[in-house]
Amino acid sequence: MQEIVINGGNPLEGRVTISGAKNASLAIICAALMSDKPLVLENVPYINDVKVLLEIIGTIGAKIHWQDYKVLYIEPPKEINVQAPYELVKKLRASNLLLGPMLAKFGQASVALPGGCNIGSRPMDLHFKGLKCLGADIKLEKGRIVGTAGRMVGCQVYLDFPSVGATENIMMAACLAEGQTIIENVAKEPEVVDLANFLNAMGAKVRGAGTDVIKIEGVNSLDQCQRYSIIPDRIEAGTYMVAAAATRGDVLIENVIPKHIEPVIAKLREANVDVEESEDTVRVTARKELKPVDIKTMPYPGFPTDMQSQMMVLLCTIPGTSVIIENIFENRFQVVDELKRLGARIKVEGRMAVIEGVNSLYGASVKATDLRAGAALVIAGLASKGETRVGNALYVYRGYQDLEYKLKSLGADIKCL
Ligand code: UD1
Repeated sequence: MQEIVINGGNPLEGRVTISGAKNASLAIICAALMSDKPLVLENVPYINDVKVLLEIIGTIGAKIHWQDYKVLYIEPPKEINVQAPYELVKKLRASNLLLGPMLAKFGQASVALPGGCNIGSRPMDLHFKGLKCLGADIKLEKGRIVGTAGRMVGCQVYLDFPSVGATENIMMAACLAEGQTIIENVAKEPEVVDLANFLNAMGAKVRGAGTDVIKIEGVNSLDQCQRYSIIPDRIEAGTYMVAAAATRGDVLIENVIPKHIEPVIAKLREANVDVEESEDTVRVTARKELKPVDIKTMPYPGFPTDMQSQMMVLLCTIPGTSVIIENIFENRFQVVDELKRLGARIKVEGRMAVIEGVNSLYGASVKATDLRAGAALVIAGLASKGETRVGNALYVYRGYQDLEYKLKSLGADIKCL
């Protein structure tokens, strides 16, 4: 079993550089399959989720190689092997983002009902609603999603919830549909905007990404992009910011877009953490007495669900009562039982967690239950006295590039086994 071993108690100090955004990379790699020409993606993180997706698109027929550190060459296939292998696809929830591009470009798709983190029920009804509205035929057959489509035709679709994945899947497919598509109540996450920018760089006509309504004029082919650089990972940045605060440290985080992480900055400031922003850095200093805060997760620009577990750890270290309400994924509180092993005092009632901060956490053996829970447990280990062993560390490696190196360079005593 892969494990992260931490001897906690050192304040993190120094500077750390953030890698490319995991979630933007996953969507953009799927979208790249729709290009008629090879292209190069820059600032792609070398993390397990990206490696698995590359294996999947390799089996579909794409040719891929890393040209350099963070620089990925993708040659999309002319024809596809439609069956993405179940063993691979079930490892990665984001493989559902292959549906839209495969249907739009090749008229067929068959992917396993995707796996990924166990953070909630994660239905796909909104993806299907949009793709069906564009003309695809979608069926569930023996654990697989099987889709076929002729040339798709633009339509108007309203999302009952601003789902990131559904917005992305429908937006990608609509780029090659005939005529105009209007998607209402879409997700406004920076990764959606980055994907729209990439699609436009390939020759698509997408307008309105980052607002509630996206309009897409379909085009016949996508062939204009040679190189595209992916945005920095706001969740990785937020994780290091919270780690700095939880260890009462002083860290300069480089290669971030501070606006993307504004809700986390606002909550840290409310907790009395000093946060200084520049154009592409954020410095987090936690030398004063911190205060408890309340948090509700919401779609962007609200507080990100992907930062909720990490923030919970910080709140565990601040005496007083804090409340977290999780509105996006119902299973995000699985980390609570693990945090209790380290001495945290948390009560969960449905989607609400009430945290009574303590003066210190103590090292223990814990297990990651999902990617962000794993990141939270690493922060908890850094903030605890003594040794913490985080099991199921593979979850953490799905989303954090060079975790051991980056944390060591900030003074942490950490080993990734
Ligand atoms: C993406 C991110 C994930 C992040 C999440 C929310 C990727 C690869 N993953 O996941 O890190 O935590 O956004 O910011 O980008 N829903 C439906 N029907 C659907 C689709 C979703 O009801 O068809 C619901 C989900 O159950 C959930 C909510 O919508 O309650 C948000 O999910 P969604 O935004 O789709 O998350 P993902 O795209 O899966």
